[in-house]
Amino acid sequence: MLLLIILTATMINSSGNQPNESLMFVCVCNKVTDGQIREACENGASSMECLKKQLKVATCCGRCQDCAKRVLRESQAELYRNPIPLAATA
Ligand code: FES
Repeated sequence: MLLLIILTATMINSSGNQPNESLMFVCVCNKVTDGQIREACENGASSMECLKKQLKVATCCGRCQDCAKRVLRESQAELYRNPIPLAATA
């Protein structure tokens, strides 16, 4: 079963100001996108437990758990390569 729905939407995501950016729903049950997971990671979420508490991802059918973990790991790797300056977070 295809769990990932990729939407190309004319939207502005919370971190980018980039119109026409595609969004991917990771958790269909709770309508959680990859962008929301990346933003949570940028704000300190460091585990699936954090994501479950903050976004409710993977708290219904659970089929999205592997994908959510992958997005979390990718986000953490990206933050490691390109850390957010402290002044940008204040
Ligand atoms: S798709 Fe995430 S809990 Fe069902």
